Parts: sequence; C-alpha cells; structure tokens
Amino acid sequence: MTSLHGGDTTSAVLQSDPDGLTLMLGRFSPQEETPVHNHNSWGIACVVQGRDRYRHWEVGEDGRLRILYEKELGPGSFVTWLDPPRDIHSQQGIDEPALELVLFGKNVMTIPRNYYNPNTGEVKTALSQ
Ligand SMILES: [Fe+2]
Repeated sequence: MTSLHGGDTTSAVLQSDPDGLTLMLGRFSPQEETPVHNHNSWGIACVVQGRDRYRHWEVGEDGRLRILYEKELGPGSFVTWLDPPRDIHSQQGIDEPALELVLFGKNVMTIPRNYYNPNTGEVKTALSQ
C-alpha cells in the first residue's frame, strides 16, 4: 500500500485491465480527512472493514464547492459516483481505518486528479498531492 493524496491514507492497485477498468484497495485513515478531490472517472467504493465518512461535493452555480451529501458507510455499504464533474469527494475513517474496494472506470493511477480547497476555491491538478 502506498500513500494516496499525500496523507495517511494508502492504496494498492489490485487489478487494472487494458480498457482501464481498475480495482483498488484503499485504507482511509481516521486521523485526517482526504483532501477534496476527483479522479476524472466514475467509481464505486464499498467498505469491507471499519467505517467511513464519505462526503460527496459539487460545484454550485456560483462556482463554490459545497457538500451535496454525507454518508456513513459500514462493511457492505457502498457509494457510486459518475464521471466528472460529478466525481468530487472526500473520505475519512471513523475511529479506525476504513478498508474499501474501489472500482474505477479508468486507470486513475495514470490520470491527474483535481484537488479542491473548499474555502478558497483553489484547484490544483496533480497525480499525487
Ligand atoms: Fe477518491
């Protein structure tokens, strides 16, 4: 597992198909929330162990980022997101690390992500933060 998003959250690619379909195992730290980010791909995240506070964000008509919904996920619970611009989210384990299987429509490890600052509206593009 290697660091993802520059923090205590880690991930490992389990399989990546030639057409881009990519399955990852993610470990979301309870210590800190991931930055608000996207993957430039649709995705499905299913918790296999622990609990995750998933926040889904959207860019409003005023150009500001806001939380569209927030969900607590336990083992077997999942969320889905669509292609950009509807793929913006942040996650944090609750009390303990949350282990999740995340399926992406593209090989997201080779596609730069957007990192959003909800307070300033600043957007940075990077493969890792
Ligand atoms: Fe993500």
